[in-house]
Amino acid sequence: MSEVVLQVRDLSVRYGGVLALSSVSFDVADGQIVGLIGPNGAGKTTCIDALSGFTTPSARNPSFSYISFLGRSIDRLSPQSRVRLGFARTFQSLELFDDLTVRDNLRVAAATPTWISTLTDALWPKRKVDAAVEEVLELLGLDRFAEDRPEHLSNGQRHLVAVGRALVGKPKLLLLDEPAAGLNPSETAELSKLLRSLPDRGVSVLLVDHDMSLVLGVCDQVHVLDFGSIIASGTPEQIRSDPLVISAYLGHGSSGVDEPAPGAGSES
Ligand SMILES: Nc1ncnc2c1ncn2[C@@H]1O[C@H](COP(=O)(O)OP(=O)(O)O)[C@@H](O)[C@H]1O
Ligand SMILES: [Mg+2]
Repeated sequence: MSEVVLQVRDLSVRYGGVLALSSVSFDVADGQIVGLIGPNGAGKTTCIDALSGFTTPSARNPSFSYISFLGRSIDRLSPQSRVRLGFARTFQSLELFDDLTVRDNLRVAAATPTWISTLTDALWPKRKVDAAVEEVLELLGLDRFAEDRPEHLSNGQRHLVAVGRALVGKPKLLLLDEPAAGLNPSETAELSKLLRSLPDRGVSVLLVDHDMSLVLGVCDQVHVLDFGSIIASGTPEQIRSDPLVISAYLGHGSSGVDEPAPGAGSES
């Protein structure tokens, strides 16, 4: 259980004059759900972008590994290569294809074409992809909506489609960017249940959200970002009572460190 899937060390990202991420370090171990929380603008999406290869770290010492995946430095790998190694991510804006059915949204995501797969697809229909898509549709309770277009679904169901698209490639590490944004309490509770089932399916999770209640309810470890730096790390219990965390949240006009959402966690 202690194998480190993701190791992040001294990771910084600068956008012009803004230091969006400042020397961030943390690990995600096999089977762990790790939370990254913080107020708007704290650097959460930037962190996911850097991990998934969508943005470039500002410090780039070639002899240092800023991001390692299963013991291997991935600093120089493209987003596609990271996906092939076992990364998957969602986007805050969901990025669904609204003119495709839910099933086809998942199918497209499951296909990672290479020249060899293009060749083998001509010989064998995509039976493996179809099986993976059907499995994920069922897991997420989306099978009933498989032939619908995402625009006809509720906000919560659309978020599930986004998570489903990330899951069909059978990732080892899932990076989720605010999957609970705009969900109602029962949808959030459903999402919590799903997230907690992922480690048993071999998927470790980095859960980025500013919904403290969701994160504190499902995560094993939580890191709190504020202005690009990690200001606190610990178990949900430790984070909930950390004075720096409370002041960062209250300082940004949030309502503070809430109790977990209904059904979101085992703690009361
Ligand atoms: N592409 C970009 N260009 C310039 N500044 C950016 C860009 N993306 C994010 N930022 C800035 O970086 C900081 C962190 O943003 P972000 O990672 O989106 O925060 P969060 O996801 O925690 O709300 C903010 O100050 C934001 O304005
Ligand atoms: Mg964000």
